[in-house]
Amino acid sequence: MKTLTLTNRQVHNGNLILVNSTHRLLKQTTSELVPTALQSGTLLQRQAAALLNSLMQQIDGWKYIVPVSGWRSFSEQQQIWDDSLKENGMEFTQTYVAVPGHSEHQTGLAIDLALKQEHIDFICPEFPYDGICQKFRMLAPAYGFIERYPKGAEMITGIGHEPWHFRYVGVPHAQIITENGLVLESYMDFIKNYEYGFKPYITTVDNCELYVSYLPASGVSGTRVMIDDSMLYSISGNNIDGFIMTEWRCTHENKPGLKWA
Ligand code: DAL
Ligand code: ZN
Repeated sequence: MKTLTLTNRQVHNGNLILVNSTHRLLKQTTSELVPTALQSGTLLQRQAAALLNSLMQQIDGWKYIVPVSGWRSFSEQQQIWDDSLKENGMEFTQTYVAVPGHSEHQTGLAIDLALKQEHIDFICPEFPYDGICQKFRMLAPAYGFIERYPKGAEMITGIGHEPWHFRYVGVPHAQIITENGLVLESYMDFIKNYEYGFKPYITTVDNCELYVSYLPASGVSGTRVMIDDSMLYSISGNNIDGFIMTEWRCTHENKPGLKWA
């Protein structure tokens, strides 16, 4: 066992941070940003880009799908907001463009994808529920991506239905969210039922047992946590009030696959 101290700033870092109209991104991402595809100007955080490319490789996806928008700076998001307001008006803009400072694109963990064709709409690209796009959608959770703004969840996400916008949250969170019909907002509440040290949410991936739990941030001097360091683990802030802990128990033959390590 070892003791970790998580700082209050760490609440706002990690693959699972919730960024929406009520939870802004507190600082610009400092993680390394890399091109999503060869010769693409669309950037994502390194791990998200690697997983996206593995998925695309599996379905030969880059032949038919193009990255439209990945990481955006605050000023790019502001420009998109201003342009859309001028061209489309307030109602459309509030439905499909996040207020600057509140866009997942600023994290480097979100990507808009489009079916390759002559005309591609930058704000609402076409990414239909059939063919290669649906093939991508079905496999996305296994690679850590969720369709972030599904139909029917507009009141929860605060954003219109966006079939083209995918968010990297990592494995196994993407599967848990998808299997339970959740969105990132409701996952944050769901996981609070599984407090660290009491009752984790247990799931299986690649023959590894995974334990997911919530750890509330406590105290001005940070959150102290005892961790079983014989297990692989990762910790992400939720950008609200605590952390999500993920621990892997794998047999020695079943090391976690590189695709999500
Ligand atoms: N289109 C999404 C909501 C954004 O602007 O971040
Ligand atoms: Zn988007």
